[in-house]
Amino acid sequence: MADIESLLKEKRSFKPSAEFVKNANWNKRTVDEYRKLGAKNPERFWAKMAKENVSWFTPWKKVLQWKPPAAKWFVGGKLNVSYNCLDRHLVGENAWRRNKAAIIWEGEPGDTRVLTFGELHREVCKFANVLKGLGVKKGNRIALYMPMIPELAIATLACTRIGAIHSVVFGGFSAEALRDRIEDAGAHVVVTADGGYRKGVPHALKPAVDEAVAGLDVVEHVVVVKRTGEEVAWESARDHWWHDLMQEASAKCAPAKLDSEHPLFILYTSGTTGKPKGILHTTGGYLTHVTTTAKALFDLNETDTYWCTADIGWITGHSYVIYGILANGVTSLMYEGVPTHPAPDRFWDIIERHRVSIFYTAPTAIRTFVRLGDEHPQKHDLSSLRLLGSVGEPINPEAWMWYHRIIGGRRCPIVDTWWQTETGGIMITPLPAATETKPGSATLPFPGIDADVYTEEGVPANPPDGGFLVIKKPWPGMLRGIWGDPERFKETYWSKYENTYFAGDGAHRDSKGYFWIMGRIDDVMNISGHRIGTMEVESALVSNVKVAESAVVGRPDEITGTAIVAFVTPKGGVTSNDDLARELREHVAKHIGAIARPADIRFTDALPKTRSGKIMRRLLRDIASGKETVGDTSTLEDYSVIARLREADEG
Ligand code: WTA
Repeated sequence: MADIESLLKEKRSFKPSAEFVKNANWNKRTVDEYRKLGAKNPERFWAKMAKENVSWFTPWKKVLQWKPPAAKWFVGGKLNVSYNCLDRHLVGENAWRRNKAAIIWEGEPGDTRVLTFGELHREVCKFANVLKGLGVKKGNRIALYMPMIPELAIATLACTRIGAIHSVVFGGFSAEALRDRIEDAGAHVVVTADGGYRKGVPHALKPAVDEAVAGLDVVEHVVVVKRTGEEVAWESARDHWWHDLMQEASAKCAPAKLDSEHPLFILYTSGTTGKPKGILHTTGGYLTHVTTTAKALFDLNETDTYWCTADIGWITGHSYVIYGILANGVTSLMYEGVPTHPAPDRFWDIIERHRVSIFYTAPTAIRTFVRLGDEHPQKHDLSSLRLLGSVGEPINPEAWMWYHRIIGGRRCPIVDTWWQTETGGIMITPLPAATETKPGSATLPFPGIDADVYTEEGVPANPPDGGFLVIKKPWPGMLRGIWGDPERFKETYWSKYENTYFAGDGAHRDSKGYFWIMGRIDDVMNISGHRIGTMEVESALVSNVKVAESAVVGRPDEITGTAIVAFVTPKGGVTSNDDLARELREHVAKHIGAIARPADIRFTDALPKTRSGKIMRRLLRDIASGKETVGDTSTLEDYSVIARLREADEG
């Protein structure tokens, strides 16, 4: 509530500049018209978008078939995503794009590669043939565990070309996390690299794949891109070099004519249980959603150089590094490494050298740059920028203002975009030529999206009261399910309110109807914009022989938004000291990945529980963030536990 109150005091607002309004893809009139149409008849609105922004081999028969919670969009339509991202830029009035940059890539060591639409098309066709040669058929799953190199984009597009389903696993995940995901999806083929560059040194990936697939019968082939040249172990019956296979592959591969509802990809995300969910997206609706939103809210133009800093291992990289951008025929910049290598101005240097015009990043990164100091961006000419975006977490007004002043030179609109792995594309966002922005607010739903804030009882909350963020009507990019777990799909998203999607975020609206997103209200933490379930970290901790019990909560952190705090009860006879804390932090990193490594480990001989045995997380959250314990503790099993935890804190 305190957060809501402080945000409500935010009075600054920013109107779109005349310059921007004049040239925008969607001006205020268009936006007004689409908002009206989207509210009155969302199916008609999305059908119009699908026709205008996507190429179909066969038109659909029915726009939407909605049997809650199962949605089918553009039923009977046939298309191909790689055709939309590539082939259509090589023919007809767009044929000149053949030699336009599709991907401008920069490696962390400073090496660069540019792939034109023509070249990317060729590489994608070749890799699609490689996959076919390995026996991959329509509907098979392919796991991609790769650094941010062009081959990752090539591999995703090659899958879509033949109707294989990709499952990209972020390169920062551990061997165990990778293994779980390969197994759950039943992937026969894994594509990886020897490694990539991070913080100036090679970060190996192949050893993690070796460990992950050892004894996993399902995996028949591992394709390895040579990136770092470091030595790798080799299993000759299973492993293949990318360059060897590509050398022999034909560059001719017709795009498969796929059903609109054909599965496009699975992407795992954390939930409230220990097991990650395989979020399933399909073809026609997803492509319509991401292509339309990208064109409208990034105001994509023919001459733009667009840069989204997200890793392709996350949904943002899928939708707005690859699909939504390339489908619009726009140049997408891809960067391999960390923002601060070799110096804290790497991002600004990239923007200056490549004349980036649209820049999309996360609040965590922005807060890091604020701390690093203004001199780094100020060393560079950032005048090529004309629009800025933010995604992944609530952006605090001060970070927003810094972004606006120091990076945007007060002239660039900022689009603060709310969405999720599950929503496929952006849902709540300013439209840069039409929406007055307020620092900290994602403003209004995209046309055709029916979002609201509900009370516990399922009625719209009275502004400015807080509540639960919901989506009341199906939308084209929505998830179609959780891979292999239809019950969990229903239970997680569709059981709190009838026929209404429950997002898991808290929010409130102001008197203008603007949305202010308050963050997760379930047991999912948002660490630097990445979702980590408290249960996942807890199960990793208790898998250590020295741990009896643990409870994990998030506490606010100035840079990462949330930091992980683990309360741990060691087994009898185990000494709890700094060495054990270090060991446990590494243990979690090994089980899940470095992003899940707890910031603090606090040892305690008991956890506060209710009489029914539930851990009182609210109390732990208060302790972790140093707040006084407030609220009802009458159900607390053992009052003294709290006092002892506090002592541990002070000591
Ligand atoms: C949070 C990332 C506030 C939110 C695209 C959501 C945001 C979760 C915003 C999804 C935003 C994302 N303002 N919070 N603009 N964007 N979130 O699946 O809690 O990695 O539920 O998708 O990030 O994270 P995911």
